[in-house]
Amino acid sequence: MHTPSAPAKDVLSADRLCLRFGAVEALKSVSLTVREREIHAVIGPNGAGKSSLLNCLSGFYKPQSGAVRFNGADISALVPHKRAGLGISRTFQGIQTYPSMTARENILTGYHLRMKTGLFSALLYWGRVRAEEEAFARRAEEIIDFLELEERRHEIVGDMSYGLRKRVDLGRALALDPKILIMDEPMAGMSAEEKGDLARFILDIRDGLGIPVVLVEHDMEVVMDISDRITVIDFGQVIACGTPAEIRTNDAVIAAYLGGAQQ
Ligand SMILES: Nc1ncnc2c1ncn2[C@@H]1O[C@H](COP(=O)(O)OP(=O)(O)OP(=O)(O)O)[C@@H](O)[C@H]1O
Ligand SMILES: [Mg+2]
Repeated sequence: MHTPSAPAKDVLSADRLCLRFGAVEALKSVSLTVREREIHAVIGPNGAGKSSLLNCLSGFYKPQSGAVRFNGADISALVPHKRAGLGISRTFQGIQTYPSMTARENILTGYHLRMKTGLFSALLYWGRVRAEEEAFARRAEEIIDFLELEERRHEIVGDMSYGLRKRVDLGRALALDPKILIMDEPMAGMSAEEKGDLARFILDIRDGLGIPVVLVEHDMEVVMDISDRITVIDFGQVIACGTPAEIRTNDAVIAAYLGGAQQ
Protein backbone atom coordinates (compact mmCIF):
# COMPACT_ATOMS: atom_id res chain seq x y z
CA MET A 1 0.00 0.00 0.00
CA HIS A 2 1.21 3.50 -0.78
CA THR A 3 1.59 6.01 2.05
CA PRO A 4 -0.63 9.02 1.38
CA SER A 5 0.86 12.40 2.26
CA ALA A 6 -2.41 13.70 3.75
CA PRO A 7 -4.37 11.58 6.24
CA ALA A 8 -7.12 9.55 4.55
CA LYS A 9 -10.52 11.25 4.66
CA ASP A 10 -13.58 9.67 6.25
CA VAL A 11 -16.07 8.63 3.57
CA LEU A 12 -18.88 6.91 5.44
CA SER A 13 -19.43 6.80 9.16
CA ALA A 14 -21.86 5.48 11.70
CA ASP A 15 -22.05 7.53 14.88
CA ARG A 16 -23.42 5.81 17.99
CA LEU A 17 -26.18 3.86 16.24
CA CYS A 18 -28.80 2.22 18.43
CA LEU A 19 -31.24 -0.19 16.79
CA ARG A 20 -33.91 -2.25 18.55
CA PHE A 21 -36.37 -4.86 17.31
CA GLY A 22 -38.83 -5.16 20.19
CA ALA A 23 -36.80 -6.57 23.04
CA VAL A 24 -33.77 -7.32 20.83
CA GLU A 25 -31.04 -4.70 20.93
CA ALA A 26 -29.34 -5.34 17.61
CA LEU A 27 -27.00 -2.34 17.84
CA LYS A 28 -25.97 -0.65 21.08
CA SER A 29 -24.21 2.62 20.29
CA VAL A 30 -22.18 1.32 17.36
CA SER A 31 -19.71 3.66 15.68
CA LEU A 32 -17.63 2.92 12.61
CA THR A 33 -15.64 5.01 10.17
CA VAL A 34 -14.75 3.99 6.65
CA ARG A 35 -11.90 5.98 5.13
CA GLU A 36 -11.14 6.58 1.49
CA ARG A 37 -9.29 3.76 -0.24
CA GLU A 38 -9.72 1.23 2.50
CA ILE A 39 -11.16 -2.22 2.75
CA HIS A 40 -12.92 -2.19 6.11
CA ALA A 41 -14.14 -5.56 7.35
CA VAL A 42 -16.88 -5.98 9.94
CA ILE A 43 -16.67 -9.30 11.73
CA GLY A 44 -18.34 -10.97 14.70
CA PRO A 45 -20.27 -14.09 15.70
CA ASN A 46 -23.69 -14.96 14.19
CA GLY A 47 -26.39 -12.55 15.29
CA ALA A 48 -23.82 -9.97 16.48
CA GLY A 49 -25.46 -7.17 14.45
CA LYS A 50 -23.24 -7.01 11.35
CA SER A 51 -26.04 -7.07 8.74
CA SER A 52 -28.07 -4.67 10.89
CA LEU A 53 -25.16 -2.22 10.80
CA LEU A 54 -24.85 -2.49 7.00
CA ASN A 55 -28.62 -2.03 6.69
CA CYS A 56 -28.39 1.17 8.75
CA LEU A 57 -25.55 2.45 6.52
CA SER A 58 -27.52 1.80 3.34
CA GLY A 59 -30.82 3.03 4.79
CA PHE A 60 -32.81 -0.22 4.87
CA TYR A 61 -33.01 -0.07 8.66
CA LYS A 62 -33.68 3.11 10.58
CA PRO A 63 -31.84 3.26 13.90
CA GLN A 64 -33.75 4.72 16.86
CA SER A 65 -30.79 6.98 17.56
CA GLY A 66 -27.40 7.91 16.15
CA ALA A 67 -26.37 9.28 12.77
CA VAL A 68 -24.94 8.12 9.45
CA ARG A 69 -22.65 10.53 7.63
CA PHE A 70 -21.41 10.43 4.06
CA ASN A 71 -18.55 12.75 3.11
CA GLY A 72 -19.41 14.84 6.14
CA ALA A 73 -23.14 15.23 5.40
CA ASP A 74 -25.77 13.71 7.70
CA ILE A 75 -27.72 11.26 5.54
CA SER A 76 -29.66 9.61 8.38
CA ALA A 77 -33.01 10.76 6.98
CA LEU A 78 -32.39 9.53 3.41
CA VAL A 79 -34.22 6.46 2.06
CA PRO A 80 -32.13 3.67 0.44
CA HIS A 81 -32.49 4.73 -3.20
CA LYS A 82 -31.42 8.29 -2.35
CA ARG A 83 -28.31 6.91 -0.64
CA ALA A 84 -27.70 4.70 -3.68
CA GLY A 85 -28.02 7.83 -5.82
CA LEU A 86 -25.25 9.45 -3.76
CA GLY A 87 -23.01 6.48 -4.58
CA ILE A 88 -23.57 4.15 -1.62
CA SER A 89 -23.92 0.81 -3.37
CA ARG A 90 -24.33 -2.63 -1.84
CA THR A 91 -24.61 -6.34 -2.38
CA PHE A 92 -26.80 -8.44 -0.11
CA GLN A 93 -26.39 -11.66 1.81
CA GLY A 94 -27.42 -14.43 -0.67
CA ILE A 95 -28.25 -14.00 -4.34
CA GLN A 96 -29.97 -10.92 -5.74
CA THR A 97 -29.61 -11.41 -9.50
CA TYR A 98 -32.46 -11.91 -11.98
CA PRO A 99 -32.08 -15.59 -12.97
CA SER A 100 -33.80 -15.42 -16.38
CA MET A 101 -31.70 -12.48 -17.60
CA THR A 102 -28.18 -12.54 -19.03
CA ALA A 103 -25.10 -11.31 -17.17
CA ARG A 104 -25.07 -8.12 -19.23
CA GLU A 105 -28.78 -7.45 -18.69
CA ASN A 106 -28.36 -7.92 -14.94
CA ILE A 107 -25.53 -5.41 -14.88
CA LEU A 108 -27.64 -2.96 -16.90
CA THR A 109 -30.40 -3.11 -14.25
CA GLY A 110 -27.95 -1.28 -11.98
CA TYR A 111 -27.79 1.56 -14.48
CA HIS A 112 -31.52 1.84 -14.88
CA LEU A 113 -31.74 2.71 -11.21
CA ARG A 114 -29.42 5.60 -11.93
CA MET A 115 -31.10 6.95 -15.04
CA LYS A 116 -31.75 10.59 -14.54
CA THR A 117 -34.54 10.80 -17.06
CA GLY A 118 -37.95 9.72 -15.78
CA LEU A 119 -40.70 8.35 -18.03
CA PHE A 120 -42.42 11.68 -18.66
CA SER A 121 -39.27 13.57 -19.57
CA ALA A 122 -38.15 10.49 -21.52
CA LEU A 123 -41.05 11.14 -23.88
CA LEU A 124 -40.02 14.77 -24.24
CA TYR A 125 -36.27 14.27 -24.49
CA TRP A 126 -35.87 11.06 -26.44
CA GLY A 127 -32.38 12.02 -27.64
CA ARG A 128 -31.11 12.49 -24.11
CA VAL A 129 -32.38 9.06 -23.13
CA ARG A 130 -30.61 7.48 -26.10
CA ALA A 131 -27.34 9.20 -25.21
CA GLU A 132 -27.69 8.12 -21.57
CA GLU A 133 -28.41 4.52 -22.57
CA GLU A 134 -25.44 4.40 -24.90
CA ALA A 135 -23.16 5.69 -22.15
CA PHE A 136 -24.54 3.02 -19.78
CA ALA A 137 -23.99 0.29 -22.37
CA ARG A 138 -20.36 1.38 -22.72
CA ARG A 139 -19.85 1.44 -18.96
CA ALA A 140 -21.48 -2.01 -18.67
CA GLU A 141 -18.88 -3.34 -21.11
CA GLU A 142 -16.10 -1.84 -18.95
CA ILE A 143 -17.52 -3.60 -15.90
CA ILE A 144 -17.82 -6.88 -17.84
CA ASP A 145 -14.11 -6.58 -18.75
CA PHE A 146 -13.13 -5.57 -15.23
CA LEU A 147 -14.87 -8.62 -13.73
CA GLU A 148 -13.57 -10.91 -16.50
CA LEU A 149 -17.08 -11.82 -17.65
CA GLU A 150 -16.39 -11.29 -21.37
CA GLU A 151 -17.10 -14.91 -22.29
CA ARG A 152 -20.24 -14.98 -20.18
CA ARG A 153 -21.93 -11.70 -20.99
CA HIS A 154 -24.84 -13.33 -22.88
CA GLU A 155 -25.18 -16.33 -20.59
CA ILE A 156 -28.39 -16.69 -18.58
CA VAL A 157 -27.52 -16.03 -14.95
CA GLY A 158 -29.77 -18.84 -13.65
CA ASP A 159 -27.48 -21.34 -15.42
CA MET A 160 -24.30 -19.99 -13.80
CA SER A 161 -22.39 -21.28 -10.79
CA TYR A 162 -23.02 -19.54 -7.47
CA GLY A 163 -19.65 -17.79 -7.62
CA LEU A 164 -20.32 -16.36 -11.07
CA ARG A 165 -23.78 -15.19 -10.09
CA LYS A 166 -22.24 -13.33 -7.15
CA ARG A 167 -19.78 -11.77 -9.58
CA VAL A 168 -22.65 -10.57 -11.78
CA ASP A 169 -24.32 -9.14 -8.68
CA LEU A 170 -21.10 -7.27 -7.94
CA GLY A 171 -21.23 -5.93 -11.50
CA ARG A 172 -24.75 -4.68 -10.85
CA ALA A 173 -23.54 -2.91 -7.70
CA LEU A 174 -20.61 -1.36 -9.63
CA ALA A 175 -23.03 -0.15 -12.30
CA LEU A 176 -24.35 2.33 -9.75
CA ASP A 177 -21.00 4.08 -10.15
CA PRO A 178 -20.40 3.80 -6.43
CA LYS A 179 -18.34 6.05 -4.21
CA ILE A 180 -18.37 3.25 -1.65
CA LEU A 181 -19.31 -0.41 -1.88
CA ILE A 182 -20.97 -2.34 0.94
CA MET A 183 -20.87 -6.14 0.77
CA ASP A 184 -22.62 -8.57 3.13
CA GLU A 185 -20.94 -11.99 3.21
CA PRO A 186 -20.04 -12.03 -0.49
CA MET A 187 -18.01 -15.23 -0.13
CA ALA A 188 -20.50 -17.39 1.74
CA GLY A 189 -21.07 -20.64 -0.18
CA MET A 190 -18.15 -20.10 -2.57
CA SER A 191 -15.39 -22.54 -3.44
CA ALA A 192 -11.81 -21.67 -2.47
CA GLU A 193 -11.09 -20.70 -6.08
CA GLU A 194 -14.17 -18.47 -6.31
CA LYS A 195 -13.18 -16.80 -3.02
CA GLY A 196 -9.69 -16.16 -4.38
CA ASP A 197 -11.13 -14.55 -7.52
CA LEU A 198 -13.51 -12.37 -5.57
CA ALA A 199 -10.78 -11.30 -3.12
CA ARG A 200 -8.72 -10.20 -6.12
CA PHE A 201 -11.65 -8.19 -7.53
CA ILE A 202 -12.23 -6.51 -4.17
CA LEU A 203 -8.56 -5.48 -4.03
CA ASP A 204 -8.87 -4.17 -7.62
CA ILE A 205 -11.97 -2.19 -6.65
CA ARG A 206 -9.92 -0.45 -3.96
CA ASP A 207 -6.69 -0.04 -5.90
CA GLY A 208 -7.86 0.26 -9.52
CA LEU A 209 -11.19 2.04 -9.07
CA GLY A 210 -10.27 3.83 -5.83
CA ILE A 211 -13.52 2.77 -4.17
CA PRO A 212 -13.54 1.94 -0.45
CA VAL A 213 -15.26 -1.31 0.52
CA VAL A 214 -17.15 -2.26 3.69
CA LEU A 215 -17.16 -6.01 3.95
CA VAL A 216 -18.94 -8.39 6.31
CA GLU A 217 -17.26 -11.75 5.95
CA HIS A 218 -16.94 -14.92 8.04
CA ASP A 219 -13.87 -16.31 6.25
CA MET A 220 -11.12 -15.09 8.59
CA GLU A 221 -8.30 -15.98 6.23
CA VAL A 222 -9.75 -13.71 3.52
CA VAL A 223 -10.54 -10.96 6.04
CA MET A 224 -7.02 -10.99 7.49
CA ASP A 225 -5.53 -11.08 3.99
CA ILE A 226 -7.32 -8.21 2.27
CA SER A 227 -8.56 -5.81 4.98
CA ASP A 228 -6.87 -2.56 5.89
CA ARG A 229 -8.90 -2.30 9.10
CA ILE A 230 -11.35 -4.53 10.91
CA THR A 231 -14.21 -3.64 13.28
CA VAL A 232 -15.34 -6.45 15.56
CA ILE A 233 -18.93 -6.55 16.82
CA ASP A 234 -20.25 -8.81 19.55
CA PHE A 235 -23.78 -8.68 20.96
CA GLY A 236 -24.49 -5.40 19.19
CA GLN A 237 -21.38 -3.63 20.45
CA VAL A 238 -18.01 -2.76 18.95
CA ILE A 239 -15.41 -4.64 20.95
CA ALA A 240 -12.37 -3.76 18.81
CA CYS A 241 -11.21 -1.86 15.73
CA GLY A 242 -7.76 -2.03 14.20
CA THR A 243 -5.45 -3.53 11.62
CA PRO A 244 -5.53 -7.30 11.02
CA ALA A 245 -2.36 -7.67 13.13
CA GLU A 246 -3.96 -5.74 16.01
CA ILE A 247 -7.23 -7.68 15.80
CA ARG A 248 -5.51 -11.06 15.66
CA THR A 249 -3.91 -10.48 19.06
CA ASN A 250 -6.77 -8.57 20.73
CA ASP A 251 -7.86 -10.28 23.96
CA ALA A 252 -11.53 -9.21 23.74
CA VAL A 253 -11.74 -10.55 20.18
CA ILE A 254 -10.14 -13.87 21.07
CA ALA A 255 -12.53 -14.21 24.03
CA ALA A 256 -15.60 -13.42 21.86
CA TYR A 257 -14.66 -16.01 19.27
CA LEU A 258 -13.72 -18.69 21.80
CA GLY A 259 -16.98 -17.96 23.66
CA GLY A 260 -18.88 -18.45 20.40
CA ALA A 261 -17.11 -21.73 19.68
CA GLN A 262 -18.04 -23.12 23.09
CA GLN A 263 -21.78 -22.48 22.72
N1 LIG B 1 -35.68 -7.36 10.58
C1 LIG B 1 -35.45 -7.85 11.80
N2 LIG B 1 -36.48 -8.08 12.65
C2 LIG B 1 -36.26 -8.55 13.89
N3 LIG B 1 -35.04 -8.85 14.38
C3 LIG B 1 -33.98 -8.65 13.58
C4 LIG B 1 -34.12 -8.15 12.25
N4 LIG B 1 -32.91 -8.05 11.69
C5 LIG B 1 -32.03 -8.47 12.62
N5 LIG B 1 -32.68 -8.83 13.75
C6 LIG B 1 -32.04 -9.31 14.99
O1 LIG B 1 -30.95 -8.48 15.29
C7 LIG B 1 -29.85 -9.25 15.78
C8 LIG B 1 -28.65 -9.00 14.88
O2 LIG B 1 -28.91 -9.61 13.61
P1 LIG B 1 -27.99 -9.42 12.34
O3 LIG B 1 -28.70 -10.04 11.20
O4 LIG B 1 -27.62 -8.00 12.23
O5 LIG B 1 -26.71 -10.29 12.75
P2 LIG B 1 -25.44 -10.69 11.89
O6 LIG B 1 -24.25 -10.29 12.70
O7 LIG B 1 -25.54 -10.19 10.52
O8 LIG B 1 -25.53 -12.30 11.90
P3 LIG B 1 -25.11 -13.38 10.78
O9 LIG B 1 -23.62 -13.56 10.92
O10 LIG B 1 -25.83 -14.62 11.20
O11 LIG B 1 -25.52 -12.88 9.43
C9 LIG B 1 -30.32 -10.69 15.81
O12 LIG B 1 -30.77 -10.98 17.12
C10 LIG B 1 -31.45 -10.71 14.82
O13 LIG B 1 -32.37 -11.73 15.12
MG1 LIG C 1 -25.72 -11.10 8.64
